[in-house]
Amino acid sequence: MAGTKTFFIIKPGAVRHEHIGPILAKINANGFHIAALKMLMLDRHHAEHFYSVHREKPFFESLVTFMTGGPVVVGILEKENAVAAYRKLMGATDPAKAAEGTIRRLFAENIERNAVHGSDSDENADIECDFFFSKSERFSKFED
Ligand code: CMP
Repeated sequence: MAGTKTFFIIKPGAVRHEHIGPILAKINANGFHIAALKMLMLDRHHAEHFYSVHREKPFFESLVTFMTGGPVVVGILEKENAVAAYRKLMGATDPAKAAEGTIRRLFAENIERNAVHGSDSDENADIECDFFFSKSERFSKFED
């Protein structure tokens, strides 16, 4: 069975432009349960680790600098098929290619400053949720 949770980040650009509320409203309106939520600064070490699969990409340094340049909101979302459902709601990585009504189409500045992150697999959702949240910080509808 596909997983019921995914991990998300509201990135510094969207936080700076006061898009936290509108993005969370869209998430709720699309039937997700917010099971965990907090605002924090990513330090360079954590950002480099989080995006380590992109280490060899030309945009890696710029991405890490962007992601550590201001506070982010991180959280856990729950819904059936949460990873796929949230990726659909986010829209394509490049907001110019994102469908109408998606979060990135509405709130992203460009392909790097693309408003939100979402896990790309159930396996990575587990890793990313565990990286940011202890058990006592999670309020799941599905698990004890
Ligand atoms: P995210 O879903 O957080 O996963 C990796 C991030 O790298 C992506 O969103 C973008 O912020 C960034 N990214 C991906 N492709 C590019 C690109 N071609 N140029 C700049 N940034 C990119």
